[in-house]
Amino acid sequence: MKFVRFIVKNAALASVPKHVEHFSKFSPSPLSMKQFLDFGSINACERTSFVFMRQELPVRLSNIMKEINLLPDKLLTTPSVQMVHSWYIQSLMEILEFLDKNPDDHKVLGEFVDALVTIRNRHNDVVTTMAQGIIEYKEAFPEDWVTNQNIQYFLDRFYMSRISIRMLINQHTLIFGSTNPVQPSAIGSIDPHCQVGDVVQDAFHSAKMLCDQYYLSSPDLILQEMNNEKKNHPVSIVYVPSHLYHMLFELFKNAMRATIETHESSNSLPPIKVMLSLGGEDMSIKVSDRGGGVPFRRIENLFSYMYSTAPAPQIGEHARPPLAGFGYGLPISRLYAKYFQGDLQLYSMEGHGTDAVIYLKALSTDSIERLPVYNKTALKNYKVSQEADDWCIPSKEPLDLRKYKVAK
Ligand SMILES: Nc1ncnc2c1ncn2[C@@H]1O[C@H](COP(=O)(O)OP(=O)(O)OP(=O)(O)O)[C@@H](O)[C@H]1O
Ligand SMILES: [Mg+2]
Repeated sequence: MKFVRFIVKNAALASVPKHVEHFSKFSPSPLSMKQFLDFGSINACERTSFVFMRQELPVRLSNIMKEINLLPDKLLTTPSVQMVHSWYIQSLMEILEFLDKNPDDHKVLGEFVDALVTIRNRHNDVVTTMAQGIIEYKEAFPEDWVTNQNIQYFLDRFYMSRISIRMLINQHTLIFGSTNPVQPSAIGSIDPHCQVGDVVQDAFHSAKMLCDQYYLSSPDLILQEMNNEKKNHPVSIVYVPSHLYHMLFELFKNAMRATIETHESSNSLPPIKVMLSLGGEDMSIKVSDRGGGVPFRRIENLFSYMYSTAPAPQIGEHARPPLAGFGYGLPISRLYAKYFQGDLQLYSMEGHGTDAVIYLKALSTDSIERLPVYNKTALKNYKVSQEADDWCIPSKEPLDLRKYKVAK
């Protein structure tokens, strides 16, 4: 029996490249916030969601698996990246088993929810494991600009794909699984009336607790709301509160760390100011600190997966959680913002402080998933080679003008 299972498993494994090839030929189908809400409305149909998911998940997985295979060999072969890759293969195989099952069979639908929960749990540590792979790679090989660019391009797409896959899985399991929603009005993980100010307060208080624990003090919050659509009403949008919380928590941790480290010797800490503004198109959140800022030249690097000023945390270490970890706070938060067509930008004044602004869509009709697709353009981006810069590189030495002197 064991032997038969071994043969069957190996046969399934051998067919994975064929399936990846097949499903990566389809483009992922981005869903709008409205479509997400429809899947969870009163006439939500588990059968429809199941039929959509068993096609869409393999498409999203396969599209990104094609890109994993394009990573530089030196990174692809690290034990951590190999492990992540094997999780993707395993999860793909588990979903493919549902392709020829009957959508009208309740037992099948129940098994599908269970399979999705297993898959979600399997992928819980993808970000830290991948980060570990990057550290292993950085330790073994000297930095080179082209590889850095490739890794940045890949990880932005890889983590965005992961955010989207988890969103699909969460919606299906929360709406059709047995657990009751945390909030009765929520549709899966979406709150149709997400009060942004409340999420700001929650995220601030969590960061404050962490900050108090670590530094024994923390700055205060000053929150101001501007609702230009409905005067005197709190700002509210259709959104995923956990995504918003994630971004704000990261921004607050950074703002607090900067504030404390630049005002170590003074008795009082300048507060962190948050401004919310709801317009016709954008809902913007500005988090301002007076933590000394960052030089303009470094801003781009703060979103890089290859740089961080904080020492990397030890995996499995159960010490107090520090306010800075892998250096993934900003890049991942920006992906959450971009996922529903928003953005996250930093405006800093060195010597003074930083404004971090999250831009989200005010209208749910504009909030549509932003998904990577594997195609020729993507392929070309992995093939960039180091070419000569088309801007002059300023010389460090002052120009010797003597040679231009015309003999009199
Ligand atoms: N508000 C800020 N003021 C000054 N420096 C900042 C601010 N926000 C970010 N930075 C700088 O940007 C770097 C990267 O921030 P990011 O949040 O991405 O990573 P991290 O804080 O180092 O680690 P992690 O967020 O993963 O725990 C920080 O280490 C810090 O040097
Ligand atoms: Mg951070």
